[in-house]
Amino acid sequence: MAALRFTNIIGTGSYLPEKVLTNADLEAMVDTSHEWIYARTGISQRHIAADGETTCDLAEQAARRAVQAAQISTDSIDLIIVATTTADQVFPSTACLLQERLDIHGCPAFDVQAVCTGFIYALDIADKFIRTGNCQRALVVGAETFSRIIDWSDRGTCVLFGDGAGAVVVESGPTPGILSTHLHADGAYKDLLSVPVGISTGFRQIIEGTAYTQMQGSEVFKVAVRALGDVVEEALQANELDKDKIDWLVPHQANLRIINATAKRLGIPMQRVVVTVERHGNTSAASIPLAFDEAVRNGRIQRGQRVIFEGFGGGFTWGSILFTY
Ligand code: ACO
Repeated sequence: MAALRFTNIIGTGSYLPEKVLTNADLEAMVDTSHEWIYARTGISQRHIAADGETTCDLAEQAARRAVQAAQISTDSIDLIIVATTTADQVFPSTACLLQERLDIHGCPAFDVQAVCTGFIYALDIADKFIRTGNCQRALVVGAETFSRIIDWSDRGTCVLFGDGAGAVVVESGPTPGILSTHLHADGAYKDLLSVPVGISTGFRQIIEGTAYTQMQGSEVFKVAVRALGDVVEEALQANELDKDKIDWLVPHQANLRIINATAKRLGIPMQRVVVTVERHGNTSAASIPLAFDEAVRNGRIQRGQRVIFEGFGGGFTWGSILFTY
């Protein structure tokens, strides 16, 4: 009988660009106030990539830290997945660019595009590669320079987002590890949150500078709270677990009100919820691995604890990953 294979996280890393943009800085750019931003979103600052600093630059730093934490050699990585909405180039993929930076050769490397749920999609895919025996050790990264697809004169969106990267190294082992993954999408919501142009629909518009994030904020808010609650309940049911058996909820960091509403609906106290949105803003695919790495490094999340990641983003896409760390 073939040995059972499970996916275990053996190292985490993250990186935030040096430049910090505070709410006070935004007051000088658009008609807004710290009070409005903080009350509606819980955000007080976000990090912004320097001119010329790309998604791959951020991904590389996070990946190197995860590799170091895992105490492995990059030679042993046999799969690289980068979740990003803000790839450096049309092609090659950011994963291939990262592969070259890390001097890794020959293993599969590809990007995943599920906006803010991207890291959950990427980790789910890595889990399936490992469980089927197609890979032993994977590097999974969520990295974004979302600031590049923001209209910095639109107060409705520019106050929400930031740049950053987070990474995990996962490997095959005989015990879990990842207990369940659940992915969802519904393209019927495509117009509520989007950058409505791209390579195929109008490269000229991108050059002329209209390729920015558009969002119907209050509609997104409602669907996000519902979907994020449902997806945690789905994971608990699939594992026949009570919410008391979850040590940590690591949600996508979009808005503190969404996080609070989800935790309240699930009856999970905020002391067991990892929150970084105040300092990071919404870093899209990077937000979950960034928050996770921070909580691992500051000792809040301990080995053996049960953790659930949950994400929601453009598409809409949403999903969860439940695991023992
Ligand atoms: N500063 C001051 N006033 C503002 C700002 C701002 N930055 N932005 C909007 N306003 C104004 C609006 O113009 C409006 O004014 P009006 O009443 O005179 O027309 C008023 O504030 C209320 O606007 P709403 O959009 O209704 O405010 P709301 O309470 O819905 O908060 C917000 C807006 C924060 C965007 C909220 O809807 C939200 O968080 N939605 C979720 C969207 C989200 O998180 N998206 C991220 C990507 S998706 C994801 O990752 C989950």
